[in-house]
Amino acid sequence: MAASTNRQWVLKSRPKGWVKETDFELKSAPAPEPGEGQCLVRTLYVSMDPAMRGWIEDRPSYIPPVQIGEVMRAGGVGQVVTSRHPELRPGDLVQGLLGWQEYSLVGGAGLMPASKLPPGVSPVQALGVLGLTGLTAYFGLLDLGRPQAGETVVVSGAAGATGSVAGQIAKIQGCRVVGIAGGAEKCGWLTREAHFDAAIDYKGDDVARRLRELCPRGVDVYFDNVGGPILDAVLAHLAPRARIVLCGGISAYNESEPPPGPRNLMALVIQRARMEGFIVIDYAARFPEGVKQLAAWVAEGRIAHREDIQRGIENAPKTFLRLFRGENLGKQVLQVADPGRS
Ligand SMILES: NC(=O)c1ccc[n+]([C@@H]2O[C@H](COP(=O)([O-])OP(=O)(O)OC[C@H]3O[C@@H](n4cnc5c(N)ncnc54)[C@H](OP(=O)(O)O)[C@@H]3O)[C@@H](O)[C@H]2O)c1
Repeated sequence: MAASTNRQWVLKSRPKGWVKETDFELKSAPAPEPGEGQCLVRTLYVSMDPAMRGWIEDRPSYIPPVQIGEVMRAGGVGQVVTSRHPELRPGDLVQGLLGWQEYSLVGGAGLMPASKLPPGVSPVQALGVLGLTGLTAYFGLLDLGRPQAGETVVVSGAAGATGSVAGQIAKIQGCRVVGIAGGAEKCGWLTREAHFDAAIDYKGDDVARRLRELCPRGVDVYFDNVGGPILDAVLAHLAPRARIVLCGGISAYNESEPPPGPRNLMALVIQRARMEGFIVIDYAARFPEGVKQLAAWVAEGRIAHREDIQRGIENAPKTFLRLFRGENLGKQVLQVADPGRS
């Protein structure tokens, strides 16, 4: 199949405060030709991740910022169209940083590597429960949180891709698990389908009061995806020797100025508690271990997962914004093409 045009979203302006659809521009370019050692990949699914909001800020981070005029960076799963790569064949499914575009080149010097999907892993699972968000939950909770059977674990962003898996892993470890999420539908899903013991609707409930009711002996492990007032409320309710896993702080990602720090940090001193951040890519060498374990739990029905699939490359910015409005339940992905179709 000969690819023709490549629709791609480039970064047009750096957002000030809330990211807007108009911070991106849809352009068309000829689909690129693979050089020696490269292959042309057609994007099937794009992963939408809150971290991408940080990637478009011009400030030092764990990854260089996307430049104005560059294709918006994003993880994705695609299918090899033509290949001059020694190990990839047309039809192979690969994952990598494919970006908000219909086609990309992978492999070869100076280009992003792409790896074949592990056998038995579907494209959507490879971006979610068996991909970076599942692995973030796995390593963050187990390595940093170190939950013990009988302990109380609280997870914020609990109905999202990372939080929902973190809570269920804690359940598998024999913990009592309380999720914090926005709205009755998400809270209902947590307790009915995702094995959580209880859920707090931070948009409707008094979080501090519900924490006191649901965690009478305090919180042993807090897996934090949101920061802000919810982190403060949990800090005020820690058990002795508590561990706080700082996974993310989405409540502040669209703030133009960093919000004031948590008011209840002294609780760490009083409770001899620990708060630690991490970035999942530091665990890359152990990803196969994580994927294997997560896949086994999914197959055993011990981890429920949901995906929110939007469609069409033209909807990339709109789909990205869903994360910050809390419109996604589970992993947010954008389907760009069907496998096997030109
Ligand atoms: N450290 C790492 O290596 C790493 C890797 C992956 C992800 N992360 C972090 O993990 C977190 C979750 O990422 P994800 O990909 O799994 O996304 P997600 O949880 O599937 O989606 C984002 C969710 O955040 C919630 N949210 C949005 N604005 C909020 C606010 N102001 N206050 C509270 N909650 C808010 C929304 O749920 P509600 O409807 O419940 O508000 C939304 O559905 C993010 O902070 C992300 O940056 C970290």
